[in-house]
Amino acid sequence: MTTLTHHAGSLTQTIRFVRRGDIVSLSNVPPTRTLLEVLREDLGHTGTKEGCGEGDCGACTVVLGEAQADGGMTYRAVNSCIRLAHSVDGLALWTVEDLAKDPLLKPALKPTEPQACESFGLHPAQEALVQCHGSQCGFCTPGFVMSLFGMYQQHVVAGVPITRELVQRDLSGNLCRCTGYRPIFDAAQQMEKLPAVQVDEPALRAQLARIRPEPQAQGNYLQPTTLAALLQARSEHPAAQLVAGCTDVGLWINKLHKDFEQIIDVTRAAELRVVSQQPGRLRIGAAVPLEDAFSALCQHWPELKNFAERFAGLPVRNAGTLGGNVANGSPIGDGMPLLIALGAQLVLASVRGECSMPVEDFYTGYRKNLLAADEVLAFIDVPLPPVPTHQEANWLRAYKISKRYDDDISAVCLVIHLQIADGRVQQVSMGAGGVAATPVRARQTEAVLRGQPWQLATVQAAMAALRAEFEPISDMRASAAYRREVLGNLLQRFWLETQGQQQINLAHIDVGTFEPVKVLP
Ligand code: FES
Ligand code: FES
Repeated sequence: MTTLTHHAGSLTQTIRFVRRGDIVSLSNVPPTRTLLEVLREDLGHTGTKEGCGEGDCGACTVVLGEAQADGGMTYRAVNSCIRLAHSVDGLALWTVEDLAKDPLLKPALKPTEPQACESFGLHPAQEALVQCHGSQCGFCTPGFVMSLFGMYQQHVVAGVPITRELVQRDLSGNLCRCTGYRPIFDAAQQMEKLPAVQVDEPALRAQLARIRPEPQAQGNYLQPTTLAALLQARSEHPAAQLVAGCTDVGLWINKLHKDFEQIIDVTRAAELRVVSQQPGRLRIGAAVPLEDAFSALCQHWPELKNFAERFAGLPVRNAGTLGGNVANGSPIGDGMPLLIALGAQLVLASVRGECSMPVEDFYTGYRKNLLAADEVLAFIDVPLPPVPTHQEANWLRAYKISKRYDDDISAVCLVIHLQIADGRVQQVSMGAGGVAATPVRARQTEAVLRGQPWQLATVQAAMAALRAEFEPISDMRASAAYRREVLGNLLQRFWLETQGQQQINLAHIDVGTFEPVKVLP
């Protein structure tokens, strides 16, 4: 067992995690210390790099393993720079320095082999980078290796073919600032051709069982394991900072140098980690990672796939939660415009009971909401799509405008959900981000559309209404004038798509078959 005592002097729970087949135990780690700080500064393992310190570049990527109740394991690449060290208590951790040293990583046994050999050289994620000349500078390469390791565990081990599209999706959180991605993409596809390596999961699960976290009612970093315990902790510690995936709070710590004496982490509460289909709705627990929440949403609305993948890079989607996105309430968050357009309800819970409200009614000002001091956001209820009849058409489109196509924050986000019956707008809901102090519903524009024939004149009137409905600000992402203009343009794009011009959307462009789009007069 590796043991390290931090000398912060504050009373905190001991952090224990499995690394290289060993149990690492860390004492007195302050609640806001990041995993990257612990790795580099406390353990002296500087292979994991710090680039941006805000979840953008992927240089700090590590992989976390978690035992599941059904006997399986999950492996997720996350950004260690914005991950609080306490959140890995009870998990398995791999960094770039561990892949060739972990005794729990073993050559996979082939059916024809009586027994596997005991060791291998480099892990396929590393060997493939060497063979394909994908190794780059010392900053980005450790992060690429770990994202490839995450891909390996999630896809190659499961026998899922590694396509170019999948590589693009899974490496979306790793940036190189100077060279190119092509050899790295090649390496990702090369991994499955190399001698296989696997995690000794029975041995790992045995180690994880030894460090299963015990419920604790007191301490500087509380991780209640049930909703009831979470609500009790919240009522006893209303001043504590709530966190989920910490993909935004991590920035407050790193960039704004905020410190919190006590943190309540909601991500271990079992009821909040589940997506369940209930009569007429999908219930998404507030601690469900974005990646899983969007996977569930895309089963009902496949048209959201591209929007889901552009929400953030994979390590952020693996750590961040839809509940955190909503509770945080950033006006440029992408989750709320979507949930508003889908007619979602939020369920707030406390020891006093539960209440629910539409997403658009939750916000009272810039990053302010109706959550009482003893409440938490527990669930997000999303109505399931109606079964369309032959006279009806249902359209859902989510548009994100950002400076970078992947791994970026929106300048403007617009989500439109429209039902047409007998040629008229029967129902419409529109959520927008980046155009006001809070995420907003475009009620005035909806009123212009509702009941009107779905035709160009109606759309042009609605475009004018939408541009006039909000008072966006100018900032580093876009000017107010640009945001207004783009809002109307996105509605125009929506109209064109309903007329069969799918190629107006960048996501639909096939460079080989691209035809110019007719522009409205
Ligand atoms: Fe850039 Fe962590 S250092 S994502
Ligand atoms: Fe490492 Fe570009 S950032 S080679």
